[in-house]
Amino acid sequence: MQPVQAPFPATRLRRVRATPARRALIRENSLAVGDLIWPIFVRSGEGIEEPVPSMPGVVRRSVDRVADAAREAADLGIGAICVFPYTGMEDRTEDCAGAWDPGNPANRAIAAIKDATPGIAVMSDVALDTYNINGHDGFVEDGKIVNDRTVEALVKMALSQADAGADIIGPSDMMDGRIGAIRSALEGAGHSDVMILSYAAKYASAFYGPFRDAVGASGALTGDKKTYQMDPANSDEALRLVARDLKEGADMVMVKPGQPYLDICRRVKDAFGAPTFAYQVSGEYSMIKAAAAHGWVDEERIMMESLMGFKRAGCDGVLTYFAPAAAKLLA
Ligand code: PBG
Repeated sequence: MQPVQAPFPATRLRRVRATPARRALIRENSLAVGDLIWPIFVRSGEGIEEPVPSMPGVVRRSVDRVADAAREAADLGIGAICVFPYTGMEDRTEDCAGAWDPGNPANRAIAAIKDATPGIAVMSDVALDTYNINGHDGFVEDGKIVNDRTVEALVKMALSQADAGADIIGPSDMMDGRIGAIRSALEGAGHSDVMILSYAAKYASAFYGPFRDAVGASGALTGDKKTYQMDPANSDEALRLVARDLKEGADMVMVKPGQPYLDICRRVKDAFGAPTFAYQVSGEYSMIKAAAAHGWVDEERIMMESLMGFKRAGCDGVLTYFAPAAAKLLA
């Protein structure tokens, strides 16, 4: 008998990477087109599709142009569309009444999407910032963002969106108690099937810069949002917020921004096992677009790698402005 040679190296981990078929067999995570939620910007007017300068490739659409976008998304197999309103200073008031106007562009867009593509889930944004003269997500009294009066307004806003046909209510305001208040109001109004995707761990982030241009909020915002959005230094606090929102009736939770907070996504998924989403926000998007425009990075590969990162971090899905581009590559 031949003496058995000690194998060298003991384990050859490269064996499983040797061919595309072997790599496919051992791949741990996958990105599917149904994981994607596409945020779109809507506005008043007619026949408008105007580029957002700070977000190359992203446009603001008047409501009459929204159905076409929804059909494009449906054809690509995108799971959901999230509607954000663009407003001018003339649409903003101290009492933020535009926020729960059934005829505001966001609510009309929600209805138009449900009409054109009933199979796509429509998500709304609940926060007062785009209707508020000072750009804050809540009412401001004596320089303070007040909580409880804001929650009453958010409830009215959420109900108007559910009435318009929203499948998913997306409170992005970070007020305390709004999930419970919205949940019970939805139940009371016969909207027990309407889901809530809570922006539970939303950080006070510089990555929202291009979005604030997109919705017309950059000039409007006085001060910052640090008394309600989270400190980027915190992690345990995110778990307390998610626990609270799930208890109050959130069906799904979101971590926002995404890529700088993948550790939070992982902790949230591990701790709760609840449907967890990340928002790849405007700054993340525009940084990739800008670097790609210079030829410094490969846009398609970076896009897909960043999206896979969310899946690997435990997310079930991603809100991303790349949704149509990624869907085309996945097809
Ligand atoms: C505000 C809101 C923001 C975003 C979504 N909803 C910005 C903010 O909190 O100021 C940011 C999204 C993005 O940057 O893509 N309610």
